[in-house]
Amino acid sequence: MAAPIQYAVFPVAGKGTRFLPATKANPKEMLPIVDKPLIQYAVEEAIAAGATNLVFITGRHKRAIEDHFDIDPELEQLLDEKNKDELLGIIRNIVPEDVSCIYVRQGEPLGLGHAVLCARPVVGDAPFFVHLADDLIDAELPALAQMRDVFEAQKASILGVEPVPAEHTDQYGIIDGETGSDRLSRLKGIVEKPRPEDAPSNYAVVGRYILTPRIFDHLERTGAGTGGEIQLTDAIASLMEEEPVYGYEFEGMRFDCGSKLGYLQAGVHFGLRHPGFGQIFRDSLRRMVDPDEKD
Ligand code: UTP
Repeated sequence: MAAPIQYAVFPVAGKGTRFLPATKANPKEMLPIVDKPLIQYAVEEAIAAGATNLVFITGRHKRAIEDHFDIDPELEQLLDEKNKDELLGIIRNIVPEDVSCIYVRQGEPLGLGHAVLCARPVVGDAPFFVHLADDLIDAELPALAQMRDVFEAQKASILGVEPVPAEHTDQYGIIDGETGSDRLSRLKGIVEKPRPEDAPSNYAVVGRYILTPRIFDHLERTGAGTGGEIQLTDAIASLMEEEPVYGYEFEGMRFDCGSKLGYLQAGVHFGLRHPGFGQIFRDSLRRMVDPDEKD
């Protein structure tokens, strides 16, 4: 079996303009779904896929993320004194002891491709996960673990993809390729945010990647693309000329929590599944939607 993928890169230096004003001073990755911030769902998914080194690419106004993963002795003492053992356990285990958090600063948000390149000195010459926390995926086997299994078989870069409505292709990186019954497609190309009439398919890349370290050389050579940003998509298009790259249609339900609507939908989805109050929430939602309904 191949050596496990150790590094997971979390680019969290974006400006989050779609979620203003909430994201003016607070990172969008700290927005909670029920009681956990998005970035914690992301970290849990990466750890479930075997990652032991978590590399956060951070920027201005992102300090709350570092604080969230730090030990907080005063809070622990307070919970201990009040015998709040369950909460104490949760706070202590946000990151398991054998997992390291590493923070790299992206001085200027020059684009997702540039953010990933910032991880090069840490990741070095090994394949790695990239996880965008605002794409929250609820799946029985977490999406990155599904992709890790595919990577172990293919030994090539794997992009998480899903079909999107044709009119939305201009919001995503779109692959040239279609997944078959094995959910896998060797890609012929990839384009960033094409207009629907120019899109090679309606399969979009969402925020999950396994990349080989060759991507860094391609990122070094990638100039500003769509929106004036250094695009990861452009570097992947260039990588594809040298190595196979696959799209994998993961199993699970994705929520775009970088958008207000997607965030609300995720809150409802996870609220309905909450073991403590899911049923009460379901009943109250039903009454909100249809006030005339009787219990
Ligand atoms: P987005 O395209 O969602 O950009 O970035 P954004 O700035 O976060 O949000 P909007 O579109 O303005 O609302 C995709 C991912 O790449 C990271 C973001 O944090 C997000 O996880 N990113 C983007 C960086 O880390 N650095 C950048 O320069 C750009």
